[in-house]
Amino acid sequence: MARSSDSYRSPYAAAYAGRRVAITGGAGFIGSHLTSELLDLGAQVSVIDDLSAGDGQHLWYLIDTYPDRLRFHFASILEPRALKEALQDCQVVFHLAAMNSVQRSVEEPERCFAVNATGTVRVANAARDTGATRLVYAGSSSVYGDDPALPKSESMLPRPLSPYAASKYAGETVVRSWWHSYGLSGVCLRFFNVFGPRQPADGAYASVVPAFIRRLSVGQRPSIYGDGSQSRDFTPVANVVHAVLLAGAADPATVSGQSINIGCAERTTILQLASTLARLVGRQDLKPQFQEPRAAEVPHSVASIDLARRLLGYEPIKPVEDGLAETVAWMSRAAAAV
Ligand SMILES: NC(=O)c1ccc[n+]([C@@H]2O[C@H](COP(=O)([O-])OP(=O)(O)OC[C@H]3O[C@@H](n4cnc5c(N)ncnc54)[C@H](O)[C@@H]3O)[C@@H](O)[C@H]2O)c1
Repeated sequence: MARSSDSYRSPYAAAYAGRRVAITGGAGFIGSHLTSELLDLGAQVSVIDDLSAGDGQHLWYLIDTYPDRLRFHFASILEPRALKEALQDCQVVFHLAAMNSVQRSVEEPERCFAVNATGTVRVANAARDTGATRLVYAGSSSVYGDDPALPKSESMLPRPLSPYAASKYAGETVVRSWWHSYGLSGVCLRFFNVFGPRQPADGAYASVVPAFIRRLSVGQRPSIYGDGSQSRDFTPVANVVHAVLLAGAADPATVSGQSINIGCAERTTILQLASTLARLVGRQDLKPQFQEPRAAEVPHSVASIDLARRLLGYEPIKPVEDGLAETVAWMSRAAAAV
């Protein structure tokens, strides 16, 4: 249950206790943190995930701890019947399931649109048909593409560079139009470079934070695509979960149909990230090595979080460096447990 010391939870603690909610992609990196937090707040949680990228291990221990309040549906969001079953009687639907990789989307664009765009249509239809009162959509900062203006503000026109970014933007248009066409109150949150414990470190599609930590931990130099001057708004997963919970509990009269940035509003270059992580891992001797730049990579990204502050009352609850230190510690424990 919610700890009273966690005052940041006060805007929504009562809203989720005893409430039935659904999470698509709840076995994934962000989804599993959201599942855990909602169970801690006393919600009844229904997860649908096909485990194409997520890890069931993230959920099994939660099922053991909360056998009466966590239901797991092993199915794709592209299967309307399974989706309807998973969303039945859920008031709030958190839609996180997606093919979540720019690189993979470049290789498999049709699959990417099937899951991220058509999948969002299926989720929105199921939410509407089962009587949900709120849909929260996991959008992405990648929709801003190569617009050079910084910080990224929601009034800028999206300029997606990759199939992934285009499909995430398509999902936003679905959520917005289902609000106007069917009265399903939906809100899109554009996450900026989320990182934290449980994010996969292996494979071709690993994100930069766990990939750097993994290499540094085994005595290898971090590998940078391009010259490392590209910058990102790295956001600890706790901040994203906090924003998602604020959005799910917000008043539909004021929060419906918008797209809202969620980040820390801090800019870090990839070179700075490599240096901070080398310090935290204790391997400052391991300097980065450089490779060819990647296709469709966004040069710079940092969020304006003014709209999130105004509409959701959002403030980052965890500083970036604390999040990085937590991730280093978690990966070290995970490696020792193998
Ligand atoms: N991680 C980031 O930095 C970041 C940034 C911006 C936006 N997002 C968005 O946040 C959401 C969660 O991202 P994540 O980092 O946790 O990714 P993730 O890959 O860990 O989680 C996605 C989950 O969706 C599941 N999934 C994929 N296709 C599915 C399908 N057809 N049916 C059911 N489940 C399916 C996967 O198995 C996985 O568990 C995604 O929508 C992603 O686009 C993430």
